[in-house]
Amino acid sequence: MSGIDGNVTSAPLAHASEPDESANPLGPQGSETAIHRLERRLGWERSGEYDGDAVAFTLDGIEMEALPGETILQAADRHGAVEIPRLCYNEGMRPDGNCRACMVEIEGDRVLAASCCRRPTPGMKVQAQSERALKSQRMVIELLLADAPEIPHDPESELMYWADHLGVRTARFAARHQPAPDFTHAGIEVRLDACIQCTRCVRACREVQVHDVIGYAHRGAESKIVFDLDDPMGESTCVGCGECVQACPTGALLPSLPAIVAGDLIAKSHRIDSAAAAHDTPLNRGSKRLVPLVQINGHQAPASGWAKSTSDVESLCPYCGVGCQTTYHVADDRILSVSGRDGPSNHERLCVKGRFGFDYIHHPQRLLKPLIRRTDVPKDAHTLVDPGNPLEAFREATWSEALDAAATGLRRVRDEFGSSAMSGFGSAKGSNEEAYLFQKLMRVGFGTNNVDHCTRLCHASSVAALLECVGSAAVSNQVADVQYADCLIIIGANPTVNHPVAATFMKNAIERGAKLILMDPRRTELSRLAEHTLQFKPDTDVALLNAMMHVIVEEDLVDHDFIEQRTSGYDELVKALRPYSPEAMEHLVGVPAAQIRDAARLYATSRTSMIFWGMGISQHVHGTDNARCLIALALITGQIGRRGTGLHPLRGQNNVQGASDMGLIPMFYPDYRSVEDPEARGYFSELWGVDDLDPKRGLTVVEIMHAVTRGEIRGMYVMGENPAMSDPDVQHAREALAELDFLVVQDLFLTETASFADVILPASAFPEKTGTFTNTDRRVQIGRQALNPPGDVMQDLELIQEIARRIGLDWRYEDASAVWQEIRLAVPSSAGITWERLEDEHSVTYPCLREGDPGDEVIFIDDFPTKDGRGRIVPANFITADEVPDRDYPFVLITGRLLEHWHTGAMTRRAGVLDAIEPIATVSLHPDDLSALGASAGDSIALETRRGRVVATARPDAGIPRGSAFMPFAYVEAAANLLTNPKLDPFGKIPEFKYCAVRLAAVSSDEQSDAMYGVGAEL
Ligand code: SF4
Ligand code: SF4
Ligand code: FES
Repeated sequence: MSGIDGNVTSAPLAHASEPDESANPLGPQGSETAIHRLERRLGWERSGEYDGDAVAFTLDGIEMEALPGETILQAADRHGAVEIPRLCYNEGMRPDGNCRACMVEIEGDRVLAASCCRRPTPGMKVQAQSERALKSQRMVIELLLADAPEIPHDPESELMYWADHLGVRTARFAARHQPAPDFTHAGIEVRLDACIQCTRCVRACREVQVHDVIGYAHRGAESKIVFDLDDPMGESTCVGCGECVQACPTGALLPSLPAIVAGDLIAKSHRIDSAAAAHDTPLNRGSKRLVPLVQINGHQAPASGWAKSTSDVESLCPYCGVGCQTTYHVADDRILSVSGRDGPSNHERLCVKGRFGFDYIHHPQRLLKPLIRRTDVPKDAHTLVDPGNPLEAFREATWSEALDAAATGLRRVRDEFGSSAMSGFGSAKGSNEEAYLFQKLMRVGFGTNNVDHCTRLCHASSVAALLECVGSAAVSNQVADVQYADCLIIIGANPTVNHPVAATFMKNAIERGAKLILMDPRRTELSRLAEHTLQFKPDTDVALLNAMMHVIVEEDLVDHDFIEQRTSGYDELVKALRPYSPEAMEHLVGVPAAQIRDAARLYATSRTSMIFWGMGISQHVHGTDNARCLIALALITGQIGRRGTGLHPLRGQNNVQGASDMGLIPMFYPDYRSVEDPEARGYFSELWGVDDLDPKRGLTVVEIMHAVTRGEIRGMYVMGENPAMSDPDVQHAREALAELDFLVVQDLFLTETASFADVILPASAFPEKTGTFTNTDRRVQIGRQALNPPGDVMQDLELIQEIARRIGLDWRYEDASAVWQEIRLAVPSSAGITWERLEDEHSVTYPCLREGDPGDEVIFIDDFPTKDGRGRIVPANFITADEVPDRDYPFVLITGRLLEHWHTGAMTRRAGVLDAIEPIATVSLHPDDLSALGASAGDSIALETRRGRVVATARPDAGIPRGSAFMPFAYVEAAANLLTNPKLDPFGKIPEFKYCAVRLAAVSSDEQSDAMYGVGAEL
């Protein structure tokens, strides 16, 4: 941790472990996790595959038992006494039995058997280390080594491990002709000269992540793995999840070394262009990238993506709410690569962001010194400071000077204008401990409830409806429950893009037999697996959901017992639904009545049905009504309170659930206790040792910006948020930020918001700190420090306390665990979760009221946490969006995210692989609309609303409905939020990001703005 004036002391990093040179790369043997993971992944518990008794047999003379369904190899692994070689077998995948490395001798059998496929029978005598078995195993390895490159691409691969283990050093056979390497993908190197055709990558791609990109083609000596129709990987439909890389046992598929890392490890580098770059259009510019070169046998060749780590740290992915557990592989205080851990939400899977989006922390634009605004550079709402050149508007300062200036400036606003003139934006990317301390600082130190974060911009309306109807804002069932669901509704969500690993479990459930009802104005990737795709007209969610409920009531598909015993308000709903027959609604919603009826019947009559929704539901002026309808749908059918049922609003940011739980919202203290409730105020006054907590609700994110322009709010502390990119009608937000008397911004980079700061405090990045994070499933998980912060950069938790101490609070929390100890008092639903348990188990689900409680994976089993214990059915009537298309603005603009870019792009656009894949701002349009505009793919399109104008590159997408345009909001050079409508949902106070009127025109590419970072930047 850094000292205040830059005296850096290196603290030992928690849980960093020295890799064991002799360790088996397959992980620990002899545990029970192998079989349990297999059960979970393959859903065999459900199918009765494991019914029966354990089977006693002997392996190399050792007596052991196989659990029902276990193979010889799995039983051997669990027992731990005998190590059987294997290459095509990968724990958690379907056994394929193609490599024959695992051959064993079975007494009485004429031929050897593949132990990865063969199940033992009672009394079976198996030899894995008999002369005959060993000879066969060695022969297989020798044959495979004969084809392998002389210098292995991955010297620590499983193949090299088994070769060493069996004492096979050289091969006596000639090598086959090898395919050429393929470096067309930004994140993955394909070197099939090392491929042994084990098909682990094929199964990883098809059966685990269900992307269906990798196949096995051709015959005999020509056989090889291929991407799509034998396309270069960078031009295939690969989504870059890297599951194949993680599965490959030879180094034939490797992560590319980030150039910024390779730059230090390997002296020489050279630019190569992919085949795609030969057609140099704006849409494929990012396919150019730096590939580090090395000398091999006197020839230059691209460096292998393999590099040896010196520590492997168990942590989490910093991006979305799925909460994947990761291992950071680190050397020289740099992350070399990331692999997935067997966490409860990901079971070793990752998406492209978790796998490759880590090198932003090493980006040259990273803030390393505190900055104070230059007195000769006034704030200008229309000018963003170049993040690569902060000194054009700021000067460097020492930590003491900057912290004094920050605290003095904020305190002066409080003292001169009163507490209500103060405001703070915390971050859903920070830890629970940071969120908790930040809201406490605003409430205790500055006396205001004007504290909020980006939850206001994503699921505030879902939270409002859930609190109103079922008394809890958290999900009722975890994503993993899809394995028990017979029917899924996914509405207003695009999980393959926004929650990619969760989407893989949904796809696994569908492959197992669950039926998907996909409801969205856009036809998205999951549509190919859906039983019903209801591509309804944007903005008509309430009409469609009411029509489905109309069918359920009309056809008496409701659960009368559940309604009678567990709900209130059913009769009012029945009355309200009368006008909403599917036949009356089909024209309005654009879905045939028969399809609405079929979908309604499927949801209501399935044994178990789950609903997942995203921001397509919540980001409307009727977002709360949309969520009320979904809740009512579950309540009238009794599809809640059991495994495989329930309500799951997919949370966006990695800690948006936790930040809200911690009270980083203006109306609630931690654990959703109202600031207007005298009892709650009394409790927190005592806990925090103050007697003057603000009794009024604070203002929300967008309300704060309006209050700034009215002169009511004068000071702001922003920690890790970027309202100058994420707010609707963002020019208004930029004007408000520029008007503030005093603004402190704490962040990794000079963000668009920091352009208007008086003081900028460099923040620590996710892998540089330890803390807890709560994922979309209510799982509290621990992220561990893998690196020291660069230079003089301090931990964010320490920065909050430095400000607190400078305004008179004597805060001395030693570390995150000390803050968590206080959180257990402030948040009763997590009171049972001790720090020690988090360290041991990595993940604990709340509610967990007492130490030792397992944590409730499914809630609302017996009642709802409402005053009368009943779920409240709240009818909703259809209303239109605030701004509908007209003659001047005839299109609908829908905004959202891309797979590769997260939120405002501050991190992902500085991650080399991610920005190389998606380097430029695009607008997606139906191909017919594009031609009607006289444009084609790659042309520049101007988008103009009543609030602003941007120019982006056209991308045809037949899944976009005619008359609509989709735009990601991650690109500063074409900031989608310059266009969006700030009108709020009256309950959740969430803006209508998902709908506004826009006009489009084809324009010259000269009109496209340059970015200040990104565009496939070569780091
Ligand atoms: S690329 Fe790797 S995982 Fe795929 S078949 Fe070849 S060796 Fe197996
Ligand atoms: S699904 Fe979410 S948490 Fe998992 S790796 Fe991807 S971005 Fe990270
Ligand atoms: S591991 Fe058994 S055949 Fe490959």
